Amino acid sequence: MKNSALAHHRPQWKTHIGFLLAAVGSAIGLGNIWRFSYLCYKNGGGAFLVPYITALFIVGIPLMILEIGLGHKMRGSAPASFASVSRKWEWLGWWQVIFVMFGIVLYYSVVISWCLSFLFFSFNLSWGQDPNAFFFKKFLMVSKGPFNIGDVRTGIIFSLLLVWFLNWLIVFKGVQKGLERANKIFMPLLFILIAIIVFWGFKLPGAREGILVYLRPDFTRLMDVRVWMDAFSQIFFTLSLGFGIMIAYASYLPVKSEIVRDSLIISGVNCLFSLFVGLGVFAVLGYMAHTTSVPISSVVSESIGLAFIAFPKAISLLPAFSRIFGVLFFGSLVIAGLSSSVSIIEAFTSGIVDKFHYSRKAVVSSLVVCGFLGSVIFVTQAGLYWLDIVDHFLTQYGLVIAAIFESIILGWIYKSNRLRQHINHYSSWRLRGWWDICIKVAAPLALTVILVSSLVEELSCAYGGYSRLALVLIGRDWLIYTLFFAILVASHHWKIDPRERMLS
Ligand code: ALA
Repeated sequence: MKNSALAHHRPQWKTHIGFLLAAVGSAIGLGNIWRFSYLCYKNGGGAFLVPYITALFIVGIPLMILEIGLGHKMRGSAPASFASVSRKWEWLGWWQVIFVMFGIVLYYSVVISWCLSFLFFSFNLSWGQDPNAFFFKKFLMVSKGPFNIGDVRTGIIFSLLLVWFLNWLIVFKGVQKGLERANKIFMPLLFILIAIIVFWGFKLPGAREGILVYLRPDFTRLMDVRVWMDAFSQIFFTLSLGFGIMIAYASYLPVKSEIVRDSLIISGVNCLFSLFVGLGVFAVLGYMAHTTSVPISSVVSESIGLAFIAFPKAISLLPAFSRIFGVLFFGSLVIAGLSSSVSIIEAFTSGIVDKFHYSRKAVVSSLVVCGFLGSVIFVTQAGLYWLDIVDHFLTQYGLVIAAIFESIILGWIYKSNRLRQHINHYSSWRLRGWWDICIKVAAPLALTVILVSSLVEELSCAYGGYSRLALVLIGRDWLIYTLFFAILVASHHWKIDPRERMLS
């Protein structure tokens, strides 16, 4: 009785496609647009698809099935799901949602706000002849180091306010009217915008050479272990695994659900999208190299360099409608970013609502105010350094450590075959023993190799040339504080035992 009353109160996706779009929206983010194509180019072009697809099949898809299966069975957020496994492991669920909410989304929203500002700058190509100087000196006014905080960049604060307002609006309205509705608009719009950019790119002179550089396979690169590590960490971040998001999203699924098929669709669409965007990115870079008569290797860059320096430069060089192209490109980044940031806020919100039964609206409103205030440090003149350090620690260590624990706890302690039986009971696509091997052995092993290699690299040379003090105080301690809060929240008692909501 209690069980059905709880199930009754739990929000549910209105439509199956609504769930798929929201999950794809979470997975497709800034990383798909500005990181995948660069990784491909750097790591052997088309040959990079070998480690990438391997990583997708032995870690990405199995963990996606694991998270969706767990959320579906426990009918709860990450903290509630781990608490249902055992109260001993509840801290892990909290740690995931706390460091993504009070870490990743704080700077992720700032990057979305830069994209929003650049969307407006596109109308008059404000970056002028020197986008590099414009971005670092005029727009961010970057200070000398992470401890030279300087002033808050007021111009960016307005875009940031707008981003947090949109985050609030979407999550506040709830699962059906907020997340589902927003993603039903965002995702088709994003696919259309990206399709326009890619086909526009194809028509530019030099596009062919650019795409050849992007995809030309160099199989000798596969001997380099770094290439494999890049593939595994990209798969993991791009699919939003270890964030607690897929667990929360799956808890809103109806009882009768196709867990295996949906996991394959979400992972597949996300990876094909990355590959497709890369064609557009390299077509434009090829055009830039062609017009400025420089080798393509001198125009490629990733992440911030690609979006805020290389692309603005290329946009200014376009023969026609360059402003429209700028609006389309930065508009795509804003949409891809927002559909991921709202999923992070939702993952934390559902954890709090599950445990403390506060009103969802009050939780979202307070969270958004805290989130906005927490983002402000990344909008100071030292913001870029903070962003770089915090991102490095949370994604290279936080997410990876959380996922190692996740696969070991669910694989060995809870036992993956229990979850497999649950998944097979509802899915028409059945899981076999290979899945248990991926969860119990392949995923923790691959993630541990990534973790150890990152640690070795970290200890041998300070990341990004920052002082050890900055790395410890800003990066490492960020992880430690969030872990401390996770343990604190986990030690609080539950009003209603989370296992009561579980599907038998
Ligand atoms: N999966 C999201 C991205 O790729 C977080 O940006």
